[in-house]
Amino acid sequence: MNNQIHILGIAGSLRRQSYNRSALRAAQQLVPEGATLEIFELDGIPAFNQDEEQNPPAKVAELKKQVRAADAILFVTPEYNYSVPGVLKNAIDWASRPYGESAWDGKPAAIMGASVGNIATARAQYHLRQSMVFLNMFPLNRPEAMIANAADRFDAEGNLTDEPTKDHIRKLLQALVEWTRRIQQPPVKS
Ligand code: FNR
Repeated sequence: MNNQIHILGIAGSLRRQSYNRSALRAAQQLVPEGATLEIFELDGIPAFNQDEEQNPPAKVAELKKQVRAADAILFVTPEYNYSVPGVLKNAIDWASRPYGESAWDGKPAAIMGASVGNIATARAQYHLRQSMVFLNMFPLNRPEAMIANAADRFDAEGNLTDEPTKDHIRKLLQALVEWTRRIQQPPVKS
C-alpha cells in the first residue's frame, strides 16, 4: 500500500521485565495494515548536558535521525512519582536540542502506559502531553490507553495475555494511523 505510516515506538523503562517495554512489543504485533512499528531502545543515553548539545552522543544522533524519519511516535511511559520517568524525559530533552533543531517538531504521537497500580500512568501521561505543547507535537486525544494492574495482564515471559487490552491497543494504533494521515494532508488552498 502507498502512504505506509511508519511509527517509531519508545518505551520509558530500561527494566528487563518492564511492562511498558512488553506493551510496546505487543503493539508491534497489533499494528494495522498500512503501518509499521519500529522500536527505539533508550539504554545507553547519558544524562543530558547542555554543553554537549551541539555535539551529542552517537545514540542521541541516532534517536534524532529515527524520530525525524518516522511519520508518528508512540510513547509508552511508566509513571514514576506521579510523572514521566527521567529516562524518557532525558531522551525527549536531548532530541529537542539545540534550540531550533528539535526532532519532535510537528510529529503526531500517541501515548500509552502500564502501571502496577490502578491509576495506570494517567498522571505521567498528562505531564507528557504538557511537554508536547512546547515540543509542538500533535498528540492523539482519543482513545487514551492506560494499562492498570499490569501484573495481571502479562505472563511471566512478558507476553500481553489480556485480550481487552490487546483490542484497546489495536484501536489506539488505528486511531494514530488515521490521525497521522490527517495531519499529513496538504493544506487546502483558498
Ligand atoms: C513507581 N511506580 C509507580 N506507579 C504508579 O502508578 N505511579 C507512580 O507514581 C509510581 N511511582 C514509581 C516510582 C518509582 C521510582 C518506581 C521504580 C516505580 C510503580 C511502577 O508502576 C512499576 O514499577 C512499573 O512496573 C514500572 O514500569 P515498567 O518498568 O514495568 O515498565
